[in-house]
Amino acid sequence: NWDDVSVSKANLKEIEKVMKNVYIETYGCQMNQADSEVVGAIVKTAGYDLTNDLYEADIIFVNTCSIRENAELRVKKRLIEFDGLRKKKNWLKIGVLGCMAERLQTQLVEECKVDMVVGPDAYRDIPELLSQSNKKAGISVELSTEETYADIVPIKLDTNGVTAFISIMRGCEDFCSYCVVPYTRGRERSRDPQTIIAEAKDLFSKGYREVTLLGQNVNSYIWNKGKEDEINFAKLMAMVAEVNPLLRIRFSTSHPKDISQELLDTIAKYENICNFIHLPLQSGSTRMLQLMNRKYTREDYMAKITAIKNTIKDCGIATDIIAGFCSETLEDHNNTLEMMRWVGYDSAYMFNYSQRSNTLAAKKYPDDIPYEEKTRRLEEIIELQRELSLQSNRKDVGKEFEVLVEGQSKRNDKQLFGRTSQNKVVIFDCKDFKPGDYVKVKIVDCTSATLFGESL
Ligand code: 5AD
Ligand code: SF4
Repeated sequence: NWDDVSVSKANLKEIEKVMKNVYIETYGCQMNQADSEVVGAIVKTAGYDLTNDLYEADIIFVNTCSIRENAELRVKKRLIEFDGLRKKKNWLKIGVLGCMAERLQTQLVEECKVDMVVGPDAYRDIPELLSQSNKKAGISVELSTEETYADIVPIKLDTNGVTAFISIMRGCEDFCSYCVVPYTRGRERSRDPQTIIAEAKDLFSKGYREVTLLGQNVNSYIWNKGKEDEINFAKLMAMVAEVNPLLRIRFSTSHPKDISQELLDTIAKYENICNFIHLPLQSGSTRMLQLMNRKYTREDYMAKITAIKNTIKDCGIATDIIAGFCSETLEDHNNTLEMMRWVGYDSAYMFNYSQRSNTLAAKKYPDDIPYEEKTRRLEEIIELQRELSLQSNRKDVGKEFEVLVEGQSKRNDKQLFGRTSQNKVVIFDCKDFKPGDYVKVKIVDCTSATLFGESL
């Protein structure tokens, strides 16, 4: 029947698409995880299928991070492995997304033989790039001043069904001198609050019980600036908190220079906004902070911590620290250690300084702390943080916390794990509890990384 043939010819393009499995691998920050979920939605809408199995993939996307050299090296190694897969599967397409795509552009095609390079603001171009069947690599790396993907409902990848990210703004204009992000993610822009609330409601109705509002500097969130109905970050937090008292709210990340008293008051006011603040210090030395272009002094930072402690009862505080930034002396380093003790951080992400080309620091200051010395300082920082985390956890033994269950403990399938409002991981016996439940737990023991409890 010739009619059938013509139908199938017309549908051939569609059928080709349906045959195509997309596998997405994500590196880097939470923002990248959220972006991969947007990409998932874009390709699914265009008729592709998502797969978790690399060996089923017809198209591989790697969402990448440029923040430190190590992160890029890891991805480049992975791209060599993917190129190897293509030798057995010659139709396989490999695409690089995210910050490395933006930073390296055609270099990735030449060096790593990838078929597609798509920057953080160009994900809507992916279906078009995929449908081009010519041999030339597809590149789309235009940055935007408007794109927020506000209308796209992300497809949850790798989800526990309980906690989710919501991206509320994109880009960064802070230009910390060491940081590549303003160059790879472009100008700051905020997402329409109504779409954020709609996403939070939708997640709640699907059983999610915690959302983390994401942005490179969430305090810069602003909608309808200067107008009567202006919404800043504190107001947005309150709006999301009103969605449902059983929906926990977190946020990441705040820049210390602009975390406001209004935000702290909002966190204190709403029971379901978690008592936890991630406040990157980077260095405890005012001289270093100036070279880093952080726009606050050691004293300013201490004042913010005091305000947090005075406003929010039992607030967990975490931070980021960079060891061995340009010209850092032992005195600067000791200032960092001293500050860590003074704050008593509950947890920290700690890194060796990694010079990134084109940043202010790369242009102006020599990367003059030898690798061994950077590493020695970093190890001192890590060891101190381990002690501080242990001290902080020991203080919790004997106390009761409300824990939101996220899943089964990895070590013991008769135990569950969840988090306190302060973002600490608690392990306790399953009984009849399940992911998504709120459970009152009394802490009976701890390590520096984990609390162990008994449900009440
Ligand atoms: N080298 C080391 N760490 C860096 N970070 C950002 N840029 C660099 C760099 N060039 C760290 C900062 C930031 C976190 C996301 O990564 O601590 O807060
Ligand atoms: Fe980088 Fe600073 Fe922006 Fe954070 S605030 S993304 S460290 S430039």
